[in-house]
Amino acid sequence: MRYFIENLSQHVGEKVELKGWTYNKRSSGKVKFLELRDGTGIVPCVFFKGECQEQAFEEFEKTSQECSVKVTGTVRKHPKHEGVYEIGAETLEIIGASPEFPISPKEHGTDFLMENRHLWLRSKRQTAILRVRHEIIRAIRDFFDGRGFTLTDAPIFTPSACEGTSNLFETKFFDEKMYLSQSGQLYMEATAAALGKVYCFGPTFRAEKSKTRRHLIEFWMVEPEVAFNDMYDNMDLAEQFVEYVVQRTIKNRAEELRVLERDVSKLTPVKAPFTRLHYNEAAQMILKENPDFKVGDDFGAPDETIVSSRFDRPVFVHHYPIAVKAFYMKEDPKDPGYAMGCDLLATEGYGEIIGGGQREDNLEILTRKIHEHGLREEDFRWYNDLRKYGSFPHAGFGLGIERTVGWICGLPHVRETIPFPRLYGRSYP
Ligand code: 4AD
Ligand code: MG
Repeated sequence: MRYFIENLSQHVGEKVELKGWTYNKRSSGKVKFLELRDGTGIVPCVFFKGECQEQAFEEFEKTSQECSVKVTGTVRKHPKHEGVYEIGAETLEIIGASPEFPISPKEHGTDFLMENRHLWLRSKRQTAILRVRHEIIRAIRDFFDGRGFTLTDAPIFTPSACEGTSNLFETKFFDEKMYLSQSGQLYMEATAAALGKVYCFGPTFRAEKSKTRRHLIEFWMVEPEVAFNDMYDNMDLAEQFVEYVVQRTIKNRAEELRVLERDVSKLTPVKAPFTRLHYNEAAQMILKENPDFKVGDDFGAPDETIVSSRFDRPVFVHHYPIAVKAFYMKEDPKDPGYAMGCDLLATEGYGEIIGGGQREDNLEILTRKIHEHGLREEDFRWYNDLRKYGSFPHAGFGLGIERTVGWICGLPHVRETIPFPRLYGRSYP
């Protein structure tokens, strides 16, 4: 039987064998402490002269930070701390040595840590973030799976642009020119016509030559699309979804958020409904604090912060000027010049986490927009077919996983939100 640190409370009084890595150690005379880490937790192993094997006492001297070891001993309750367990150790065996592990408990610069990302991941903080990320992903899947959505993943190799041509990653598909997907949305519009409620969840790519705290070159996005939903239904869905993901994560990952020193009281108010602002309302708020803002422009990160800082939960901004939005956005017939797009801005300056809206479902208008955006009509033949054969109003959105992880964990930068980040200027390890 394999024993894991997370389950030790069920084995008090039993003799167990644990395998893992040396997190820390210290000794004082007749007793030595080795903090053992196995990925499920950390447990102190107490080597007491006379109680453990003599050889274990000698082996202890050879252990170093992150060497892998096997420990046997008896599980017991910590003498002072309720709910904490320790191992009364008997044997110790080094499995793999670790001479001079590069990351010591002292401070290191960001570049150094990023260069050693593969080892940095073993730290308490990084493992806490990765567990929160996993919980967020599970919550996302459960939310959609529990509401009758079908997962219909989109291709990564795509012949056409979805989110503009300025940040497309060009590649080859044998002899053909091809791009890495910026978004699975266009394909979800096709599967929505087949299945009604669909989503995709996968990596997406943006060749963005900018170093900001919220841009990755490769990031994960979940994209639901619903047939016969309009922009308002879309906001209803998005706010229920964000409430579910946030509330479930703070409930199930309280310990990890404590390790990250996250002020969870900033997340408890995240419950539907969220405030909905027309672009022009948001623009007026921005103008009061940033007189240089030009009404009609897209919002910069500081502009988003001006708007979102007024609220204790995320806020929607809808009806952006059509000029700043993608070709597929539906122009509101009742509000000409404005797109039925809606973005969701997170609290505490974390900015846009969701982009989405209602799609253009009129073939003539869509064709005109494709030309206006300098795109090739023939690349969108299949997409236009969706407007030819049983066109239907529909809406959807995309939530960026890394921005959401950064927000929920309270991290200063997206680089720690994904195991191996791809950033402008960094593709190693
Ligand atoms: O606003 P975006 O570009 O929207 C779309 O791609 C739509 N086609 C989605 C849809 O309607 N199905 O991207 C959606 C979200 C953003 O709000 C943000 O959270 C994230 O994806 N995102 C990025 N995250 C990290 N790095 C980047 N470079 C990102 N670009 C977008
Ligand atoms: Mg966007």
